[in-house]
Amino acid sequence: MESLKLGSLEVWPPVVLAPMAGITNAPFRTLCREQGGGLFVCEMITTRALVERNAKTLKMIRFAPEEKFRSIQLYGVDPVTVGRAVRMVAEEGLADHVDLNFGCPVPKVTRRGGGSALPYKRNLLRAILREAVRNAGTLPVTMKMRKGIDDDHLTYLDAGRIAAEEGVAAIALHGRTAIQHYGGTADWEAIARLKEAVTEIPVLGNGDIWSADDALRMMESTGCDGVVVGRGCLGRPWLFRDLAAVCEGSAERARPSLGEVAATMDRHATLLTESFGSEQHAVTDFRKHVGWYLKGFVVGAELRRRLATSNTLAELREGLAELDAAQPWPDGVVDTPRGKTHARDRVHLPAGWLDDPYDLAVPCADAELDTSGG
Ligand SMILES: Cc1cc2nc3c(=O)[nH]c(=O)nc-3n(C[C@H](O)[C@H](O)[C@H](O)COP(=O)(O)O)c2cc1C
Repeated sequence: MESLKLGSLEVWPPVVLAPMAGITNAPFRTLCREQGGGLFVCEMITTRALVERNAKTLKMIRFAPEEKFRSIQLYGVDPVTVGRAVRMVAEEGLADHVDLNFGCPVPKVTRRGGGSALPYKRNLLRAILREAVRNAGTLPVTMKMRKGIDDDHLTYLDAGRIAAEEGVAAIALHGRTAIQHYGGTADWEAIARLKEAVTEIPVLGNGDIWSADDALRMMESTGCDGVVVGRGCLGRPWLFRDLAAVCEGSAERARPSLGEVAATMDRHATLLTESFGSEQHAVTDFRKHVGWYLKGFVVGAELRRRLATSNTLAELREGLAELDAAQPWPDGVVDTPRGKTHARDRVHLPAGWLDDPYDLAVPCADAELDTSGG
């Protein structure tokens, strides 16, 4: 297995923590990074808010001093604004790598022509990528996308070729269409087809990696140059230890006891508190992680409920202390889906969006409002 080359950056193992809005903030990246190497992408930042220097947005661009490759994901729909945002990242040294998000399936985003709706407009996609690369200086720019809007409107092969032509450093494909959201299974065949079609730059595979062995299987079956792992590491930063092990050819796997899991939960909530500067905000934010951390362990419903409704670190710690610390890692059960798994029955698009795949009209700036990720 080879390291992943993104321009001048060399990433080993060839493993990427998928950007996840509301999840992959600095505290979560720290927990994952401590387990094993790779590239750990921050939460998505909208280009318009960045160039307008929105205070909340600027606060989200926070990296721990030890983050070796500071990786930022941008989302935008306007070539000029994307170019300005990338230039700002490069000139102000805000990150070492820029990823562009073209995979968001959320209705309020696609309805305005953003996210996973955008690659359908080939010339607009090309213009955005061109401006991003042109303004990036020496920073590598990568793109992350889905297969297309639905099975009748697949765009990934065109988008992959456009990306390679425009000097993008790597492309990541989530093997689902927008209409699939997170339902069904990811199509790894499509990753193989993209890898065949785009030979100039690394192709990364994404979708349904729930264990390190899944990652190995994806690389072997598709020939992809690296993997992007999202939901599989929710409540499970140890997956990065397994991913590093599998890439080194080791069969060793992390099997933390419930006591070790509880200690990591405590640390996660503590890091969030330090990062947010508000215990209440941090503990409330942490609630969504509780079920993921406890997946597969035998924990009574009442204690689970108390942990997931804690209001203070003290309350959370009281609950964690009641867990059966000696309980072993629930093999097997943990390697199954977690996080979002729902599908949709339609993709909301602007009127007439599918009429002309080549028109260059830029979606209205509102397409960057209220975005919430992939
Ligand atoms: C809660 C959540 C938030 C996400 N936010 C983003 C995002 O901001 N940018 C992005 O490109 N993808 C985002 N995604 C999609 C993931 O990066 C990834 O492509 C998807 O979950 C499929 O990979 P997986 O099967 O390994 O989870 C998000 C997914 C989830 C579950």
